[in-house]
Amino acid sequence: MKARGTVRVPGDKSISHRALICGALGNGESRIRGILQSADVESTAGVLRSLGAQIPPLASEISMDGNGFGGFREPRLALQCGNSGTTTRLMAGVAAASPFTSRFEGDSSLSRRPMKRIAEPLTAMGARFEFERGDGLPMTIHGGDLSGIAWNTRASSAQTKSAILFAGLASGVGVTVRELRRSRDHTERMLTSLGVPVTVTDTSVTLTPVTFLEPLDVDVPSDPSSAAFPAALGALANQGEVRIPGVCVNPTRIGFLEVLSRMGASVRYLEKRAVAGEPTATVVVSPKKLTGVRVGADEVPALIDELPLLACVAAAAGVNLEVSGAEELRVKESDRISVVVSNLRAIGADAEEKRDGFRILGGGRRSFRGRVVTQGDHRIAMAFGVLGFIDGNEIEIDDRDCVVISYPDFWTDLASLVQ
Ligand code: S3P
Repeated sequence: MKARGTVRVPGDKSISHRALICGALGNGESRIRGILQSADVESTAGVLRSLGAQIPPLASEISMDGNGFGGFREPRLALQCGNSGTTTRLMAGVAAASPFTSRFEGDSSLSRRPMKRIAEPLTAMGARFEFERGDGLPMTIHGGDLSGIAWNTRASSAQTKSAILFAGLASGVGVTVRELRRSRDHTERMLTSLGVPVTVTDTSVTLTPVTFLEPLDVDVPSDPSSAAFPAALGALANQGEVRIPGVCVNPTRIGFLEVLSRMGASVRYLEKRAVAGEPTATVVVSPKKLTGVRVGADEVPALIDELPLLACVAAAAGVNLEVSGAEELRVKESDRISVVVSNLRAIGADAEEKRDGFRILGGGRRSFRGRVVTQGDHRIAMAFGVLGFIDGNEIEIDDRDCVVISYPDFWTDLASLVQ
């Protein structure tokens, strides 16, 4: 298979959520260009609208009027978060800082995901949480006056960190978050670009309170997690070159590209520039012979969402892969350790589960055939979807449409590269 061409992948999901939230918390008119138009970002827009924010229909360019801190009103109905953990956790920080009660609901996958990780720090700040079913949704938050906090997170989670930062921001109190390993830092970058004093060290972030937030004027760069799929196709092809312009190459996000390059693929970053506090580049990937690789806990945060794809790349290249320190994969949209391994086995690859990761056993290139059960997880559909484009493979995906969560044009974009 030859993979050749240029594909512009959609706007970064993490930055898109944050742009809407900052726009709603800002004083005055914000402009956002290139926002990701996908189901997850629609969930954040919907939740903000339920809280009284004026958010227009998502489009390639939107402008919105923020009501400032304290500008939200009590929602009449439950806040519908769909499949989106980022919506739930980031908006929980905002709801905790608001003097009313909000109830969060989600789909069956989201309802199983852990929320105590945000409930604990936000409770320590002064909010009150109620859970009906253990650790997941539905979750009710009684918000109000919060006090400052210094919190050590257990898992490296940008959603937990951002929940605390948004709670501190919206209630005008100082907060510090310390993490064992640094998670993606888009909230810190966006707030810094809006003039909020945020001090960052290797593993800690401190937000100094401000009385209002400037409106936002931002170009959302392309999502490195979406770019990873065409990049993988480019690396696995027999020949060709895949170019992906305008990708956010923030160091906390490009672990997949770094590992791909360590495996031997040619990965280049051209036309580098900074866009709204984020570094971007045209990512150019072409195939070379790939070799096996190990990924350990230190590297995991920078490629957490790409680990299912990395497993598929290793299987397709017929090389060994050992991933450790990735137990967080078990609480994503699906249990991505078990779902990756069971699907790889179902199509004929050699893979083993570990408590905190997985092992792919190489043994040279071969072809795969079978049906992939995604459990509605968009990244599983896309990771195995890449395998379906490779000559000799016959892969059926049980739910191709779940890509709408993060990358609605995935199938046509990837097909456009294959020759
Ligand atoms: C995200 C953080 C990560 C990531 C998710 C998006 C964010 O989750 O997996 O897709 O936008 O902050 P965790 O915070 O749970 O690690």
